Amino acid sequence: MEVISGIGELKALRSCWMRPIGLVPTMGYLHDGHVALVRRAREESKTVVVTIFVNPTQFGPSEDFGCYPRAFERDVSILQAEAVDVVFAPSSAVMYPEGFSTWVEVEGITSRFEGAIRPGHFRGVATVCSKLFNIVDPERAYFGQKDAQQVAVIRKMVQDLNMNLDIEAVPTVREADGLAMSSRNAYLNGPERAAAAVLFRALSAVQEMYRAGCRDMTKMSNCMRRIVGEEKLVELDYAAIVDPASFEVVNSLEHPALAIVAARVGSTRLIDNMPLHV
Ligand code: PAJ
Repeated sequence: MEVISGIGELKALRSCWMRPIGLVPTMGYLHDGHVALVRRAREESKTVVVTIFVNPTQFGPSEDFGCYPRAFERDVSILQAEAVDVVFAPSSAVMYPEGFSTWVEVEGITSRFEGAIRPGHFRGVATVCSKLFNIVDPERAYFGQKDAQQVAVIRKMVQDLNMNLDIEAVPTVREADGLAMSSRNAYLNGPERAAAAVLFRALSAVQEMYRAGCRDMTKMSNCMRRIVGEEKLVELDYAAIVDPASFEVVNSLEHPALAIVAARVGSTRLIDNMPLHV
């Protein structure tokens, strides 16, 4: 496995890589959710490239960029064990040199939910992913369904800008009590960690209602709000039923929809979602 930090170095080596190339962008502090993406990429690609880069431009000024958890050596050994071919781990100065001034803005979808609560977040994500796609030039890039709005933003960007790769979404990997794995779970103390599983319980309840034939979206959103509201340590940001591509609130459930939820547990922000379809 090669560990590369320079863009020129990576591009020089790229011409020797066997195709298809599968790219897994990450911010490191890897867990089994990331590993699921890596395994999918390994199955479907001749060369697997994993990037580790805590992207400063997707964090707001009052967010956790400075204390975002990092464990580079451990990440490298996890990726080695998964038979990854290349780790690309650039510095901020390499990705955003002095004078950097070009941004990718995906409009519409980024004004809703995560985009509304975290202004500029998706601009940072879209910009860094565009750069990684240009640097690595993969046939496919793998993203987690856990960050469903991120997947939708990246798909829209790839479509609108005619980028030459496919975006693959990998199902959410969960802890035994249903909590979606996340690097940010490391911030939770004992009681907060126990309370955090309420997001999964709320989503599961709605999925159950859907399976039982309920098509009343107000009832379903209210059910999520009520369940989350029962946990004293959890402060709900939003709970809604949306179209998985546009993230607009849906008025009918004839097409596949997505139940989404976001909440703060102490000072940690968590998001989760679950598909609703037959
Ligand atoms: P990060 O939070 O490190 O996540 C990297 C990838 O792992 C994302 O596609 C995310 O959706 C996926 N992932 C995280 N938890 C998961 C889980 N429990 N199950 C399945 N997949 C999971 O998302 C980012 O980094 C950044 O925004 C990035 C795309 C790298 C751009 O900077």
